[in-house]
Amino acid sequence: MASIISIRNLTKTYAGGFTALDDVSLEIEEGEILALLGPNGAGKTTLISTICGLVQPTSGSVTVGGHDILTDYRAARSLIGLVPQEITIEPFERVINTTRFSRGLFGKSPDEAHIEAVLRALSLWDKKDSRNRELSGGMKRRVLIAKALSHEPRVLFLDEPTAGVDVSLRRDMWALVRRLRDDGVTIILTTHYIEEAEEMADRIGVINKGKLLLVEEKARLMKQLGKKKLVIELHDPLTAIPAALSEHNLTLLQDGRAIGYDYDTQADRTGIARLLADLTKAGLVVRDLETEQSSLEQVFMGLVEEDA
Ligand SMILES: Nc1ncnc2c1ncn2[C@@H]1O[C@H](COP(=O)(O)OP(=O)(O)OP(=O)(O)O)[C@@H](O)[C@H]1O
Ligand SMILES: [Mg+2]
Repeated sequence: MASIISIRNLTKTYAGGFTALDDVSLEIEEGEILALLGPNGAGKTTLISTICGLVQPTSGSVTVGGHDILTDYRAARSLIGLVPQEITIEPFERVINTTRFSRGLFGKSPDEAHIEAVLRALSLWDKKDSRNRELSGGMKRRVLIAKALSHEPRVLFLDEPTAGVDVSLRRDMWALVRRLRDDGVTIILTTHYIEEAEEMADRIGVINKGKLLLVEEKARLMKQLGKKKLVIELHDPLTAIPAALSEHNLTLLQDGRAIGYDYDTQADRTGIARLLADLTKAGLVVRDLETEQSSLEQVFMGLVEEDA
């Protein structure tokens, strides 16, 4: 698939000398949903802000739809809708005018049908004449999304769109994001909710301390996650895996008090029955059995801790 955003060797060092992005390169494919995961301060907002032209890069380059974000800023920016992390809307303005005005900022001619469709999709139509300050927090967040969609962007950035949003609204937002994707919009979202990335994304990127540690198709990640570890606690500790068990791909755990066996939950045969039979044959007495499921959360924590 063709990429709509190309990020090459992007580095951002803020005025105080802090490097928030460190040599990030990434191709974002047209029509995909990419979720960026990372702890607080990882550089997610800095990355998004740089692509949107709100933060000046220190070095490297970014193109959006083939337009360089520095030399061809207007063309690049016109393709982008941004839902910022911080809620920034004019408190005394009415919802519908806020949305109309945002479209006008991008030089698009008025389109009342589009504005209505956006407000309806976000369940804001019955609030269209309310002033922004009269809205709840979750509704304000939806107004930010309405603004971002007002000029029919081809790329939508959602910087923590579901922070402070209740469960049912979160579901609605996910449905909306999917509909947008079906219409060909490319979506990049940041989130602290790993299950959100799991549910929504086509690809998942993990960022920590300004570095992109991993970008992987979710399906492939989940396949790796389909692995489980069986932990076999032994009655008598071992100093080594007995030769008779060498074909089982075992590891010694807990100073020899346990054995670990990695297996694929999706495989036809897990090999557990045969392993247990062979353990008995080798004269080992099993005290207890336990399985550990790897999850996206563990992969994520593992990566971030490794990088600490
Ligand atoms: N304007 C600024 N000047 C100096 N440092 C900044 C500025 N903006 C962000 N930073 C620093 O850059 C780092 C990355 O911040 P950023 O907001 O990109 O993180 P984030 O991944 O979005 O975090 P969060 O999950 O908390 O939103 C942080 O250490 C932050 O303090
Ligand atoms: Mg942020």
